[in-house]
Amino acid sequence: MGYVKDSFKLKADEQAKEIKALIDQHGNKKLEDVTLAQAYQGMRGITGLVTETSLLDANEGIRFRGYSIPELRERLPKAEGGSEPLPEGLFYLMLVGEVPTQEHAEHVSATWARRSHVPNYVFDVIEALPIATHPMTQFCAAIIALQNESKFAKAYHDGINKKEYWNYVYEDTMTLIARLPRVAAYIYRRKYKNGEHIQPDGMLDWSANFAHMMGYNDESFKELMRLYLTIHADHEGGNVSAHATHLVGSALSDPYLSFAAGMTGLAGPLHGLANQEVIRWIDEMYAELDNNSPSKEQIAEYIKKTLLAGKVVPGYGHAVLRKTDPRFTAQMEFAKKHCSDDNMIQTVWNIYEVAPAILESTGKIKNPWPNVDAHSGALLKHYGLVEEDFYTVLFGVSRALGVLASLCWDRALGFPIERPKSITTEWVKKFIKESEKAAS
Ligand SMILES: CC(C)(COP(=O)(O)OP(=O)(O)OC[C@H]1O[C@@H](n2cnc3c(N)ncnc32)[C@H](O)[C@@H]1OP(=O)(O)O)[C@@H](O)C(=O)NCCC(=O)NCCS
Repeated sequence: MGYVKDSFKLKADEQAKEIKALIDQHGNKKLEDVTLAQAYQGMRGITGLVTETSLLDANEGIRFRGYSIPELRERLPKAEGGSEPLPEGLFYLMLVGEVPTQEHAEHVSATWARRSHVPNYVFDVIEALPIATHPMTQFCAAIIALQNESKFAKAYHDGINKKEYWNYVYEDTMTLIARLPRVAAYIYRRKYKNGEHIQPDGMLDWSANFAHMMGYNDESFKELMRLYLTIHADHEGGNVSAHATHLVGSALSDPYLSFAAGMTGLAGPLHGLANQEVIRWIDEMYAELDNNSPSKEQIAEYIKKTLLAGKVVPGYGHAVLRKTDPRFTAQMEFAKKHCSDDNMIQTVWNIYEVAPAILESTGKIKNPWPNVDAHSGALLKHYGLVEEDFYTVLFGVSRALGVLASLCWDRALGFPIERPKSITTEWVKKFIKESEKAAS
C-alpha cells in the first residue's frame, strides 16, 4: 500500500474502535429533540450525521480537522514560489487527520498526476451532448461515464468482504479526483474555446495543471486556483452536495455514482450555482443602471428592488453560518493583494458594505452576511475566466476533495445505509390530537 493509504487505514481503525466504545457506553444519550417545524422545514439544525473531515461553527465558519481557513493558509504546504495552500495538502489533512509535510502533499500530487488519464469514451459522451448543455450537466454526465472504471463496483460484483470496502473506495477516490480537472477543462475548452484542447502537464501540481488545461498560465491565477480549490472543498456533512454523496454512498453505490449525486445537487441555484447567479445579478444591475460603477446608494436600491420582486440576493445568507463566511474573507484578502483595483471586485466590496443592513431589516433572513459565492465569480472574471456558467464546475472539482475523503471514512468506519423516518401530514394531525388528548 502507499503510505497515504496506510496512514489513513491506521487512523480509521483507531477511530472505529473509539466509535464502537462510544456507542456501547453512550449510545442512548440524546443529542437533542426534533420539532415538528424542523421536520417540515429542511431539517434545519437537526444533528443527525457524523462527518469527520470538517465542522462548521455558525459564527466562526468552517474548520477542517480543527483548522480554520487562515490557519490552513499558513500551515498547509505550498507550491514552489507560491503562498496559497496546495489542495493536495488539504485532502491529506481531511483524509488522515494530520497536517501534511511538503513531501506528503507532493506525494498526493504525484499520485494524482499519474492517475489523471481520462479514457476517450468519456470525451465521446461529452461530445454527444449539445454544446448548449449546461457545463454542470456535462460534468455530471462525464462522471457517470467514468463509473465504468470503478474498482469498488467491480470488486463488489465479484464478491468482497465488507472489511475491504474502504480499500476500493479509496482507490476510486484517488483516481476520480485525479481525473476531474482534465474532464472539467475539456468541458471548458469544448464549450467556450472552439474545442481547442490543451494537453495536461504532468510536472504541475493539481491546481496549476487544471489552470493550464483551461488555458490560464498566469502565476497568480494558478495561486487563485490553489486557494479556490482549497476553500470550496468541504463544509461539514449536511450541505446538499456532501449529504447527497454520503447518502447515495450509504447504499454502497460506488464513489463515481455517489459523487455524481453530490454534483447534481451542487448544480442547484440555492447551493453551488449561486456563484454564477451572483455575476448574473451584478451584470443585470450594471445593465439596468447603465453604469459599471454604481454608487452604494444605487446598489442599495437595487437590492431592495430584488427583494421586492420576491427574488433572493445571491451570495448572501446561509443555512448554518451567521457571520461573514471566512471563505469570502480569504478571497477578499487575495483580491486585495492581487487585483484590488478591479471594477467588479470593487462592486462586490460595495455590496458587502450595504447588503447586510438591508437584508437584516427584512427581519426574516437569518444570516445577512455574504457566503463564499459572493466573491468567487468576480475574481475569476478578473483573470478572464468570464464564462459564469462554468463556475459551479470549478466548485465541483474542489468539493470532490471533501466529500470523497468523507466517503472513504464512511466505508472505513462501516457506516450503514442511511434511512431516516418520514411521516405524513395525516400522521402529524393524528399525533397532535393524541398528544393533546393525553395532556388534557
Ligand atoms: C443559502 C440559503 C438557501 C439559506 O436558506 P435558509 O436557511 O432557508 O435561510 P433563512 O432561514 O435565512 O431563510 C428565511 C427567509 O429568508 C429568505 N432569504 C434567505 N436568504 C436570502 C437572500 N440572500 N435574499 C433574499 N431572501 C433570502 C429565504 O428565502 C426565506 O424566505 P421565506 O421565508 O419567504 O421562504 C438562502 O440564504 C439563499 O437563498 N441565499 C441566496 C443563494 C445563495 O447564496 N446560496 C449559496 C449558499 S452557500
